[in-house]
Amino acid sequence: MTTLQSIKGFKDILPGESELWQTIEEQAKTIFSDFGFREIRLPMLEKTELFARSIGEATDIVEKEMYTFQDRGGDLLTMRPEATAGIVRAYLQHKLYAQDPVHKFYTIGPMFRRERPQKGRYRQFSQINAEIFGVASPYADAQLILVLVHLMNRLGVTDAKPHINSLGCPACRPDFRTALQSFLAGVGDQLCSDCLRRRDTNPLRVLDCKVPGCKDATRNAPALADYLCAECQRHFATVGQALDDRNVAYTIDDRLVRGLDYYIRTTFEIQTSALGAQNAIAGGGRYDGLAQALGGPDIPATGFAIGLDRLAEIVGSIQRPAPPQPHLYIAALGENTRPLAFQCVSQLNTRGIRAEMGYEDKSLKSQMKRANKLGAGYVLIIGEQEIKQGAAPLRNMTSKAQIDIPVNGLADRLTAHFENTSG
Ligand code: HAM
Repeated sequence: MTTLQSIKGFKDILPGESELWQTIEEQAKTIFSDFGFREIRLPMLEKTELFARSIGEATDIVEKEMYTFQDRGGDLLTMRPEATAGIVRAYLQHKLYAQDPVHKFYTIGPMFRRERPQKGRYRQFSQINAEIFGVASPYADAQLILVLVHLMNRLGVTDAKPHINSLGCPACRPDFRTALQSFLAGVGDQLCSDCLRRRDTNPLRVLDCKVPGCKDATRNAPALADYLCAECQRHFATVGQALDDRNVAYTIDDRLVRGLDYYIRTTFEIQTSALGAQNAIAGGGRYDGLAQALGGPDIPATGFAIGLDRLAEIVGSIQRPAPPQPHLYIAALGENTRPLAFQCVSQLNTRGIRAEMGYEDKSLKSQMKRANKLGAGYVLIIGEQEIKQGAAPLRNMTSKAQIDIPVNGLADRLTAHFENTSG
């Protein structure tokens, strides 16, 4: 019988890697708390309509990547491909704006997109999201970019740089769209089949197509920067100035369009060369119209999502948290010694001291081997003889020095020992 395998594009995070994920998540949570973000936890399943209305019907995600199904009650549901739409839905549903429109949220969890799996691209992947609601100011955009830069610095990721752009707003983008569409009409024979389709439905996306032919064809395309209205120009300049003032280096990339339709004005990504084709560790931007488009009041918002799988791959090449090693291993020799060993180990565990024991009836040699394999700092050897004599040897596995510990009140004596030797 063949063993069952996980689904293509869905991966397991095993011990060894999971500690790395925990390190990243803990750093992110600390930074979020310092910057005033609070956690929101949301369902992974939402009504399909939510994503179609927010991410956009003519995006790759909605057109071809969502895991959508009809449940037994006939509702059309989708495994969330991203978190922003759900956060807006919750913010509106619970009228969180009623007392104070300003909220800063973060959430961490899995997303689902049926993309072609490759390194850095999975069908279930995790994101760390941060969103600021109720602030139209460019300083909110700048703050999000600073949070990302700060997290990358804390994690030692040096090869990561913000790329920023402005996509304009409903006042100025339509003119650009028209100009771009008439430019694209003249280069149709050089565009890939996706871009030929996008030319009509979502022409801005043609600008960040990675296919070399499309890049060449759009080299002389009109530039968004030339079409920004005064308000968008001022907004974008302030984001840049705020980053300059904090000495954050960034690249202005007027082709940074992003794959979701809700953005207006600022968009940004943290890019790296460490991941090959999947060069974005994080992406985000401003989405002022989304709350209103989903039936709520007109509330500005801006946010980002980090690809946790990608970030973990990069951080893993820089640092690997050591697996936790036990302070103590109790080599229990003979069945009669096991009740005492078990009592002692469980007492130490509840006191926060990592202790392990030999559960099976194995020789001293094989238990010592296991203690070594686990990297135990100390080994306590308890045989029936030791119980009779009332003392058991405790061996320091590094120095090999050995002392006798009275068996009476064993857990307390070991606790005192570890406190005195600080582990
Ligand atoms: P996104 O650019 O689609 O934006 O995703 C953000 C990040 O998630 C990407 O930069 C990448 O690191 C990671 N990511 C996306 N797809 C995959 C995948 N298939 N496998 C591995 N990692 C992936 C959003 O999702 C927006 N909701 C971000 C946002 C929040 N904008 C405003 N607020």
